[in-house]
Amino acid sequence: MLEGFYPSARARSSYDIDYEGLYEQGYRGIIYDIDNTLVEHGADADERSIELFKDLMNMGFSVCLLSNNKRERVKRFYDGLVDGGVNVSRVYYIYDAKKPSRKNYRLAMKLMGTKRRTTCFIGDQLFTDVYGANRTGIRSLLVKPINKKEEIQIVLKRKLEKVVLINYKNDRWMRLKQSNLILIGFMGSGKTTIGQALSKQWGFGYIDLDELIEEQENMSIRDIFSKKGEEYFRSLETKTLKLLVRTSKRNIICTGGGTPLRDENRKLLKRLGYVVYLKTSPKTVIERLKDDTSRPLLQRPDKEKAVHELMEQRRKIYQKQAYLTVITDGKTIDEIIDEIEQDI
Ligand code: S3P
Repeated sequence: MLEGFYPSARARSSYDIDYEGLYEQGYRGIIYDIDNTLVEHGADADERSIELFKDLMNMGFSVCLLSNNKRERVKRFYDGLVDGGVNVSRVYYIYDAKKPSRKNYRLAMKLMGTKRRTTCFIGDQLFTDVYGANRTGIRSLLVKPINKKEEIQIVLKRKLEKVVLINYKNDRWMRLKQSNLILIGFMGSGKTTIGQALSKQWGFGYIDLDELIEEQENMSIRDIFSKKGEEYFRSLETKTLKLLVRTSKRNIICTGGGTPLRDENRKLLKRLGYVVYLKTSPKTVIERLKDDTSRPLLQRPDKEKAVHELMEQRRKIYQKQAYLTVITDGKTIDEIIDEIEQDI
């Protein structure tokens, strides 16, 4: 019964969303709530919202502001973007939107020239923002309100929201306990560190696909690559994933950086559980792996170039495979775990 209010996903803030990833997944239009989603209630466009809009425009998105607030407030925010130098040829706004009514979500898509499956909504309230997006059939992203201090009528709503969110979390948690959490991402993105920490915190088992392969073959990954070749290693990954699909439950599974490359593996990963992509910049990976000798694909004099090339080839594959993407650069282990927990 409460499912209609459940967001498709949650994020800490509108400023901590993998927009490039959304674009790569095919999204072209973003509908934003304004108050407490982009700025504090009633505030003008600030530096970070202006920067965000510039970035979104550069990426190729269209954006529509959809607010239940009055014309003066919405126009003031929009004018702030204009004054800040945002090219607003693909920015629209709708005031007095009467969310959760579907009418203006549809109008927003019409203005942006997008369809339901290419539009994403971002807002901070469940009963208006998210519910309206869900009713319209578009992806809804719930963010935490920017300002914790709110008016009394909102405070009461937030209490009801809490009840829905507890149910949402419980439902997801129950599902996860019957399944597995899988970490994917490039070499050196922290899969092992995060995986081990998660397994400890949640009381889940921990499985490292590479280790399992090494044990089964009684050979190191390096030797498997040099003696039998990469294709053989990839077949071992597939074989091991098949075994896990049959046997694994309630485990944190760390994959190798290349595991999602094969189509067959991607299907197996989907069956295996809830896939989280740890997204790390090439710079961080290069720094972490500069002295590493265990990854055969990076034992080249031009290691930096190899990282850039491989990442470029793989980024979209990771992105598409994952239910949740967590940007890890500059974040502590606890912060990363927090983000994963937010969204299960
Ligand atoms: C590989 C990543 C490695 C390991 C092998 C191949 C890849 O795992 O499976 O060296 O193709 O990216 P990590 O991501 O754990 O380093």
